[in-house]
Amino acid sequence: MKKLIKEPSQIVTINTFGKNYKRGKDLASLEPLYDHSIIVENGIIKDFIKNSTINKHRFDEIIDVKDRLVLPGLIECHTHTAFAGNRANEFLMRLNGATYEEIAEAGGGINSTVKAVRQSSFEDLIKIIRPRIDNFISQGITALEIKSGYGLSYYDEIKLLQVINYFKKLLPIDIIPTFLGAHTYPLEYKNDHKNYIKLITDELLPFIIKNNLAEFVDAFCEKSAFSSEEVDKIFTKAKKLGYKIRLHTEQFNNIGGLDVALKHKAYSADHLEVIRDEDIHKLAKSDVVSVLLPGVSFFLNYNYAPARKLIDQDAIVALSTDYNPGSSNIQNLHFIMSLAALQMKMKAEEIICAVTINAAKAINMNDKIGSIEIGKQADFSIFDAKNYPEIIYNIGQNLNSMTIKKGNIIYKRNPEIS
Ligand code: NIG
Ligand code: FE
Repeated sequence: MKKLIKEPSQIVTINTFGKNYKRGKDLASLEPLYDHSIIVENGIIKDFIKNSTINKHRFDEIIDVKDRLVLPGLIECHTHTAFAGNRANEFLMRLNGATYEEIAEAGGGINSTVKAVRQSSFEDLIKIIRPRIDNFISQGITALEIKSGYGLSYYDEIKLLQVINYFKKLLPIDIIPTFLGAHTYPLEYKNDHKNYIKLITDELLPFIIKNNLAEFVDAFCEKSAFSSEEVDKIFTKAKKLGYKIRLHTEQFNNIGGLDVALKHKAYSADHLEVIRDEDIHKLAKSDVVSVLLPGVSFFLNYNYAPARKLIDQDAIVALSTDYNPGSSNIQNLHFIMSLAALQMKMKAEEIICAVTINAAKAINMNDKIGSIEIGKQADFSIFDAKNYPEIIYNIGQNLNSMTIKKGNIIYKRNPEIS
């Protein structure tokens, strides 16, 4: 099956010349290609062809993207999409002066969503979560990471992972399940950390990997959640079992999480709102992706991560929504891109690399997706724009008009503009 993605205004290739990520100064180059179309064969990018030399009859299907912008399929590398209920009441409490940490301390926060998830069946969760994934696809997202972390019991963590894996099989995009049993201590283990960690290391981790329910293990290293020693214990076991590691760290406090992430060669260190200046170089010089989540800073009215310092010191920076009910009830990656520009002073080019190739690295898929290079999956987001800064300038607006996964159109805006 040979297809042609025909005559876009511009192809934003994000060519990495085989490196499959961009760090530091390299983030500022997108390698756009003009006057070319893309040849796709069996779902893979086969070649680029000059528009003046196209022979239409050589293709089984022509996808006309005239005057539109082609980007790699966008990648959401950090989300908590698998939740039930909402936390509008806590949002109001915060508007009246309470802080996120105070609410968590008082038994609300993550644990109130845990209660809602425990009350929901597998079928309930399927119904609640499906429209959220469809919404991401409509934004041009072709790979989506989803964490567990709102079950926090043997039964409910597995239930959440089974829901995520159900969508992984059913839907045409890549869905990457992450086990986040160490999100916080559930109320019944509030004063029994030892046994909750034991539940994770001795029961959940072996079962999940044996049943192929998750390839990544994440944790929340924070005063209100897990200490660096506790995270280290969980990661040591996880690594032994063959998991890949990621870590929520340096969100509100510096309690040693960054060193644990580096020690275990995590794929990413996420949040970093309060990373210390003197620690930036350690992360920036490593291969650990810095996943920045400016939606959290916006939603909690809190510090933004030092994106400029990280990039200037050579870090591999990615961006994501962190979509969740408590600290970033924002399901709009395009809005996050605008926030990164306005609040973290990232350049348009850096932002595009951060939601494509570097986000792909955070989920260990950067050899297959994240850039428009020959041999990679034919995953594209087709924007109704002449040039990429328009995506960031039109704040909160969805300019994606078509999402293509492995060469197939999986979303088309209705009525489509052609
Ligand atoms: O990434 N930091 C911890 N976890 C989420 C928040 C989850 C919640 O409040 O429900 C985050 O910000
Ligand atoms: Fe998160």
